Amino acid sequence: MAEGKKEYIEISIPLEAPSTADQKAVDLFNEYFPANDAFMRREDNKVILFLKQLNFGKLEEFVQAHRSDLALSIYETIAKIRSYNIKGSKRIYANYAAERKVKQRKLKEQKRDKIYYARGHNFIPENTEVPADFENKIICGNSEEILRQLPDNCVDLIFTSPPYNFGLEYHQQDDDHYWQDYFDRLFAIFDQCIRVLKFGGRIAVNVQPLFSDYIPTHHIISNYFMQKKLLWKGEILWEKNNYNCKYTAWGSWKSPSSPYLKYTWEFVEVFCKGSLKKAGDKKNADITAEEFKEWVTVKWSIAPERRMKEFDHPAMFPEELARRVIKLFSFKGDFILDPFNGVGTTTVVAEELGRKYLGIDIAAKYCERAKQRHLDARNT
Ligand SMILES: C[S@@+](CC[C@H](N)C(=O)[O-])C[C@H]1O[C@@H](n2cnc3c(N)ncnc32)[C@H](O)[C@@H]1O
Repeated sequence: MAEGKKEYIEISIPLEAPSTADQKAVDLFNEYFPANDAFMRREDNKVILFLKQLNFGKLEEFVQAHRSDLALSIYETIAKIRSYNIKGSKRIYANYAAERKVKQRKLKEQKRDKIYYARGHNFIPENTEVPADFENKIICGNSEEILRQLPDNCVDLIFTSPPYNFGLEYHQQDDDHYWQDYFDRLFAIFDQCIRVLKFGGRIAVNVQPLFSDYIPTHHIISNYFMQKKLLWKGEILWEKNNYNCKYTAWGSWKSPSSPYLKYTWEFVEVFCKGSLKKAGDKKNADITAEEFKEWVTVKWSIAPERRMKEFDHPAMFPEELARRVIKLFSFKGDFILDPFNGVGTTTVVAEELGRKYLGIDIAAKYCERAKQRHLDARNT
């Protein structure tokens, strides 16, 4: 056995109440997997797993064959490991990064001109605070006008979902503009968002393109931010699992002539101003290790909001989406803005998580609901 060699990762699994069945599980594991892939050794009150690579299907077979607590905890321990590469039918756990190591990475990055599209920005690295009049407020009005009253560089994180131009029945607001007009209005508000963002601040925009109009809204918005020299942090795929969405356009069934592509997800595009790194005190980071591990893998499976009727709003996002974005991208005490705040999902979650907030919406009715929602949340 190649025990001790660095090509294995070593994992210790404690045994709650050691028994003879444990040794059987270890023996069976060692029979199931070639030692070159993985092997186990039993010690007094623990087993040590030496893991290099593994056929995961075979691991499931092993658990079926040895239905014991230890077999199950071996399975759970291995299933939890998220860093691996895939080669054929195996997950490669050890040294996979070394295989892909790029020689002279820094030099090559320089040559490629990393984040070239944001070169020459003139964002100033001095930040300020939001004036007290705007702190922890829900304000009714057009965001473009309200945001003009804020100073430059004062907001840590903007999380929002713009009106979609889907023809939804919003209160006091049409949602079926000529696309060019829609983007002109949206970008006038985004210009203000970019201005008020702190240096190192982030803007995360939840977008669901209108697929039937073939307008890739998420690309158009992202492209706009890149033109404005923001840095692309990444894209979150919000999997809603709503499989009951429209199946096919009339006449396109089973024909390559124009298949209708179905989406069960939406996007969250995340951009940063000036720097990918955000200043903040580590003691104000409130994300747990488990949340961090799970959420940086950016396919988030979250059910859509089910209370839209109750709140009488046609396009809310769920609190869990706001919770993840806020905890992953901001510190406790940071200032969170939603310029399309609807019935207050972002601001309610921001308050719950100990952040300061400002929510703006053009519809008085939604602002009243948002205010009530804050009161209700404080009383529960
Ligand atoms: C997709 S909804 C946001 C819903 C919100 N995320 C929630 O969960 O309640 C977009 C909102 O933008 C608002 N809106 C549209 N134009 C606006 C403008 N110019 N300024 C401020 N709000 C606007 C609409 O009234 C609508 O509530």
